[in-house]
Amino acid sequence: MELLRVQTVASNSNNASIPAMFVRAETEQPGITTVHGINLEVPIIDFSNPNKEKVLSEIVEASSKWGMFQIVNHEIPSHVISKLQSVGKEFFELPQEEKELYAKPLSSESVEGYGTKLQKEENGKKGWVDHLFHIIWPPSSINYRFWPKNPTSYRQANEEYLKYLHGVVDKLFKSMSIGLGLEEDELKKAAGGDDMIHLLKINFYPPCPFPDLVVGVPPHTDMSYITILVPNEVQGLQAFRDGHWYDVKYVPNALVIHIGDQMEIMSNGKYKAVLHRTTVSKYETRISWPVFIEPQPEYEVGPHPKLVNEENPPKYKTKKYKDYGYSSNSNDVAIPDMFVRPE
Ligand code: SIN
Ligand code: FE2
Repeated sequence: MELLRVQTVASNSNNASIPAMFVRAETEQPGITTVHGINLEVPIIDFSNPNKEKVLSEIVEASSKWGMFQIVNHEIPSHVISKLQSVGKEFFELPQEEKELYAKPLSSESVEGYGTKLQKEENGKKGWVDHLFHIIWPPSSINYRFWPKNPTSYRQANEEYLKYLHGVVDKLFKSMSIGLGLEEDELKKAAGGDDMIHLLKINFYPPCPFPDLVVGVPPHTDMSYITILVPNEVQGLQAFRDGHWYDVKYVPNALVIHIGDQMEIMSNGKYKAVLHRTTVSKYETRISWPVFIEPQPEYEVGPHPKLVNEENPPKYKTKKYKDYGYSSNSNDVAIPDMFVRPE
């Protein structure tokens, strides 16, 4: 079977038409469903603010009321982020045959590898995006077969980014832990501590002659605890708020944070997973680098025991993370491409 990559479709496009499977119903088309002229004022949190109490309360408030925020003046140096971006971009610029060496094996149950969502969505449509997934942490979960060998600095650039990312993860978990009335280390411990999987995805959205008719990644919440995302400078992230879709403004050098389903569950609903989608550009390639911080597949996630009692019953079931994707309608991230989600 010839695998269809969006990058190939885009480069073969004559700008007069695109395959029908990418064209959304009007109820989903960004051209019609986006509130134009308004950027959503998603909270922007300055990590360098010496008022630590304020930073903490901003994280807690944004996680409860928005499920999404951006962090500026974080500890990750801009050259480290630029390098992560340039090696990822170089991978997608390799000849198609070379990228296919990293293709997700058809039989694999893991999401790791280069690919395009093969299983079309329930509505029969496809997103205007290709991707590469690989785990970057913990070392025992890494499969280097899915890390590009070309460019040769790919691995080093990713490892350097990871080194700094740990600090951001710790700071977010500590703040969210305190926000739940727990000790600062309790939430991360309950989430799986240093065994939590850090799954990197690169989303590659080629230019599209009809950006108003397609979506990149369709509406979803992330299945992770939290997602930490680096975008390139091309606008494209949208969040759903009060019944409408809004652009989330691109902020240079910021990290975008999404609260995911597992954090909503563990916090028994205090922190809210955010519904989001992406749009694509007519002339430019958009690329984003989310890292999903998520449980090991066998790990059981449920409301934290200290947050439930007679007055506050659990609002969510406790289940193994690997069983979560199959019973949820929320997200495609950890669901193997080849599996149809049972009802
Ligand atoms: C996603 O959330 O799945 C993609 C977000 C982005 O590309 O900005
Ligand atoms: Fe997402």
